[in-house]
Amino acid sequence: MGMIVTIDGPAGAGKSSIARDVAAELDYSFLDTGAMYRAITYGAMQKGIDLNDVGTLVEFAEAAHLTWCDDRIDLDDNDISVEIRTPQVTSNIRYIADPPEIRNCLMRQQRRIAQGRDLVTEGRDQGTEVFPDAHCKVFLTASPEERARRRQSQLQASGRQVSFEEVLMAQNQRDLEDRMRPVGRLRAAPDAIVIQTDAMGPEQVKQAVLLAVQSCLEKQ
Ligand code: DC
Repeated sequence: MGMIVTIDGPAGAGKSSIARDVAAELDYSFLDTGAMYRAITYGAMQKGIDLNDVGTLVEFAEAAHLTWCDDRIDLDDNDISVEIRTPQVTSNIRYIADPPEIRNCLMRQQRRIAQGRDLVTEGRDQGTEVFPDAHCKVFLTASPEERARRRQSQLQASGRQVSFEEVLMAQNQRDLEDRMRPVGRLRAAPDAIVIQTDAMGPEQVKQAVLLAVQSCLEKQ
């Protein structure tokens, strides 16, 4: 196994873009594990699989062929990068993220992807469950209000007008689901460097994460 950097944290903390930048800076591969959960959710919905049927979902997740290239994610050679970000997919993710059997299957795939490469991997359970021996663990967070503000600006920039209260409510629901999950729940690993980003702009966050990562990689 190569060098592993994990970046975990709640929805809207800016993990994806930061993790991608850090990976580019270090010349490591990048893995967005949220996109894996989204892809399996979307694929199962497309196939009309009963989302309460864990056995069939596991079979589907085992057989699914996921590939990445930069921002693009393909399921069985179809580009599903846009489809996996819809609110319908987001609201069904718990059917894939809750059952330990499906998490195990995705965990095995994530470990397989890490084999033989240096990797920055981003999600909820990367430093706690999937790579407990990672060389560097970061937990990136911000208050619910700040995360909702950032999300609302993103949505506005893409032409969608949603009220702050609406964004905050949906986010609180996801936080609750992510934190209450019996296995793989959102939490900082005891040895993670926690970065609270409320008072920081995106560039400052990136520099803070890079500094944290470089300092722990130097200790290896
Ligand atoms: O990072 P994201 O918002 O795209 O992730 C979508 C959902 O996937 C998140 O709400 C919970 C689930 N997830 C998970 O359970 N474990 C991970 N390592 C990554 C995501």
